Amino acid sequence: MRKIDLATIKVGSKISKTIYNSKGHVLLKAGTVLTDRYIKRLQELGFTSIFIDDGLIDDINIEEAISENTRINALNCIRDIMQEVKRNKIIHVAPLKKAVNNIIDDLLTNKDIMLNLSDIRSYDDYTFNHSVNVTVISTFIGMSLHYRKDRLKDLGMGVLLHDVGKTQIPLEIINKPGRLTEEEYEIVKKHTWYGFDTLRKCPGIKLTSAHVALQHHERLDGTGYPRNLKGKRIIEFARISAIADVYDAMTSDRCYRKSIPVHEVCHYLAEGSGVQFDQHILDRFIEKVAIYPQGTRITLSDGRSGIVIKQNTGIPARPVIRLFWNEKGPLPKPVQINLADNLELNIEDVIE
Ligand SMILES: [Fe+2]
Repeated sequence: MRKIDLATIKVGSKISKTIYNSKGHVLLKAGTVLTDRYIKRLQELGFTSIFIDDGLIDDINIEEAISENTRINALNCIRDIMQEVKRNKIIHVAPLKKAVNNIIDDLLTNKDIMLNLSDIRSYDDYTFNHSVNVTVISTFIGMSLHYRKDRLKDLGMGVLLHDVGKTQIPLEIINKPGRLTEEEYEIVKKHTWYGFDTLRKCPGIKLTSAHVALQHHERLDGTGYPRNLKGKRIIEFARISAIADVYDAMTSDRCYRKSIPVHEVCHYLAEGSGVQFDQHILDRFIEKVAIYPQGTRITLSDGRSGIVIKQNTGIPARPVIRLFWNEKGPLPKPVQINLADNLELNIEDVIE
């Protein structure tokens, strides 16, 4: 299967991965043949890409860090919490704990997986999906830092609720397509304090977890907000979630721009290493990210091109590729090569 931009998909293509809405209801089952009407409807719902079988890598399954069940449970949990907080500022901790536990358990059983967040989401439910992804990434980083389970739970609870303060910000500002005015940006910044105030009053949530809501926009060099904290004055949980937050925001499709490819986002983060982002934490993260996710079309330094089909754990820049073309056209037969064993070859270009 391969993730394809909805705008370029042809009628008659077969969906290879079931598409759910954010409540976990099935929209279109795997195996469904796309009609013009289905494509239009998915676009109206805010989907920008889906998985299909296109005859090139149909035998390849995309490995997910957490199960569909765990993801849908976490999505429902964060949605319910945000609605409750908006109404009466009460947080029920038991479902939150369960959602975080499930994420940790899934990740612990998939320890060696490379981070490849390939889920398909529509941008209307961005905040919920974003909260779940940032939690998965942060927990993943916590594992690389050898956190014990209790600490992973405290991290996860803070991160899943890191943007809970957005419930107090007017929706027209949160969902505004395009650039915010200076005044609007000042209002958005307050979500950190609102979130902290809500979480610190909540029995069952530790103060360090509440600080994730307050500090996740702080940057090592003091250029973040709301308090311009510097260096180690920012707690480690927040230094982790800052990286996860930026990574997921940039790699997601938004209503005002398309997602940015993973290798470009990693390059951006690396440029801020030790300046805006904690170098040690970032290094642990980059080791685990599939820089060229499965399904990415690439060109090699010898001119041949193909599709990434598998990751090599620990060597994110050198995945396994199935080659289909050279500069002149299609190869007589696809060739599989592992870049980990072919050090003379490099990925030269990513074809969008
Ligand atoms: Fe935030």
